[in-house]
Amino acid sequence: MSFLEEIQRRRTFGIISHPDAGKTTLTEKLLLFGGAIQEAGAVKSNKIKKGATSDFMEIERQRGISVATSVLAFEYNGIKINILDTPGHKDFAEDTFRTLTAVDSVIVVIDVAKGVEEQTEKLVEVCRMRNIPMIVFINKMDREGKDAFDLLDEVEQKLGLKVTPLSFPIGMGYDFKGIYNIWEKNVNLFSGDSRKDIEETVEISDLSSPKLDELVGEDSANTLREEIELVDGIYPSFDKEDYLNGVLQPVFFGSALNNFGVRELLDCFVDIAPKPRAKQSEERLVKPDEKKFSGFVFKIHANMDPNHRNRLAFVKIVSGEFKRNSPYLHVRNNKKLKFSSPNAFFAEKKEIVDISYPGDIVGLQDTGTFKIGDTLTEGEALNYKGIPSFSPEHFRYINNADPLKSKQLYKGIDQLMDEGVAQLFTLELNGRKVIGTVGALQYEVIQYRLEHEYGAKCTYENLNVHKACWIDPSNSASDEYKEFVRVKQRFLAKDKHGQLVFLADSAFSLQMTQQKYPNVKLHFTSEFD
Ligand code: G4P
Repeated sequence: MSFLEEIQRRRTFGIISHPDAGKTTLTEKLLLFGGAIQEAGAVKSNKIKKGATSDFMEIERQRGISVATSVLAFEYNGIKINILDTPGHKDFAEDTFRTLTAVDSVIVVIDVAKGVEEQTEKLVEVCRMRNIPMIVFINKMDREGKDAFDLLDEVEQKLGLKVTPLSFPIGMGYDFKGIYNIWEKNVNLFSGDSRKDIEETVEISDLSSPKLDELVGEDSANTLREEIELVDGIYPSFDKEDYLNGVLQPVFFGSALNNFGVRELLDCFVDIAPKPRAKQSEERLVKPDEKKFSGFVFKIHANMDPNHRNRLAFVKIVSGEFKRNSPYLHVRNNKKLKFSSPNAFFAEKKEIVDISYPGDIVGLQDTGTFKIGDTLTEGEALNYKGIPSFSPEHFRYINNADPLKSKQLYKGIDQLMDEGVAQLFTLELNGRKVIGTVGALQYEVIQYRLEHEYGAKCTYENLNVHKACWIDPSNSASDEYKEFVRVKQRFLAKDKHGQLVFLADSAFSLQMTQQKYPNVKLHFTSEFD
C-alpha cells in the first residue's frame, strides 16, 4: 500500500462522555465489530469505579490497565481505526483535554435518561473551541428516557451544537421497537439480545410503505412518519463539509449494551469521519502527506514500579513515516534521538513496529527526556501548538518534609509536572511552590510517587484559590499593567513555563480585578493569541 493510501485509510478519534453513559460498552462493541476482540467483557474498563474515588490502590491498578487501553486500534472494512481512550473520571479531565489534541474527531455518548451531564459539557466545549468534528450517540434507548426531540433540544442548548439526526428511535424503553436509519433509509428492529452480532435491517426507502406498519404496528408507524416529517422540517440536512468543519453534528440513537445502532454508527463514521488532518505548528501548517516525519507528545505514562522507572511517551504522528531506529530531532532539546523499540497499539496489546503513519500513535520508551507538548521531527525546528493548560480546581502549597532530600523532591516534582500529573506555580512574593490539580486524588498520587520513585517526602497546606488566570503580557509596558502587578503581587505566580499567572482567591475578587484593570487581559487557559 502506498504512503498516501495508508494516510487515507486512517481514522483517529476519541469517545467522550460523562462517566456511566456507556463509553466503555460502546468501545467494546466497536472492537467486536472490527473483530479485534471475540467476546463482550474483554475490554477492561479504564474507569475508576464509583465508590473507589479515594482508594489509591485502585488507582494504581487502573493505571496499569490504562496503558493497555490508551490506544485501541483495529481494522474495519480496510479502514485502520485508532480509538484514543479518554478517562471519564473528572479528576483526570486534564488528561482527557490533552488527548483531545491528538484526535481528528470524537464521538460523544449521552445517556438517554440523564441527558447532557456536566463532564460532557466541559469536554464538548473543548472540542467546540477546536472545531473538532463530533458525532453524537444517544445511548441506552432500551431504557425509559427523555423524549427524542427534547433531548436534541437539550444537546443544542447545553452543548451549543447544531444537530441533525441521522437515525431516529421508534418508541423507547419498554416500547422501544427499533430505529429508523435516516442515513441509510432502513429500519432496524430491536430484539434486545445483547449477544446478537448484527441486527437485521429492513430497507424502507419510502416511509409511507405499508411494510412499515407490518413491522412496527400502525400506531408506531404513524408516529414515526410524523416525527420524521418534523425532523425534516426542523433540522438541516446532513452536510459533510459542515460536519468536518465542526459546525454540524450528526446524531445517532442506539443501545450499546444491546449492540443496537452501533453498526450504523460505525459505518457512517468510517464514511464521513476525517482522515488525518493538517496541524498548525507555531511556524507553519504541516500536512500529513509531507514526506518528512513530525509528531508531538500528548501523553506520558509513568511506570509506578520503582524497579522499572521507565515512562512511555505517546506521540501522535502528524506527517511522514515514523521509522524504527531513524534519528529524529527532539526540538526543545535540539538533540537527535533514535528509538529502537517504538510501540504500536492494537486492540489490547502493544507491539514493536518498524513503521507508522500519520494518524497513528507510537509509544516511545523514555527515561525523562520528554515533556507533554514536545515535538519530534526529521530535522525541522517545528513546535506544535495546542496543548494548553487549564486552570486547576484545587491548589495546595507543597512543603518538603525531609530536608535532606530536597534535591530528590524538586527533581520528582519537575518530572511529574512534565508528565502532566498536575501544575506547578511558584509564588512571586516568596518563591513558595503551589501544586494545582483538577481533582483531589492527584495529591495522593503525587505524594505516593515522590516517596516511592524519588525517595522524597512532602506535605501539603491548603491555599485558597478560586482560579488561575494566565496574564496576557502584551500590555506589560502600560501603567495599568504595572500597577496591577504591584497591587496584586501577593496573588501572582509563575507557571512552569515562566508565564505570569494571577491566582484569584474568589469569583468576586476576579470580577473586581477585571473591572479595575480592564486592559490587563486574563485568560483561563495557558495558550492564547
Ligand atoms: P462509561 O464507560 O461511560 O463509564 O460507561 P460503561 O460503558 O461502563 O456503562 C455504564 C453502565 O451502563 C454499565 O452498567 C453498562 O452495562 C450500562 N450500559 C451501557 N450501555 C447500555 C445500554 O445501551 N443500555 C443499558 N440498559 N445499559 C447500558 P453497570 O451496571 O454500571 O456496569 P456493568 O456491571 O454492567 O459493567
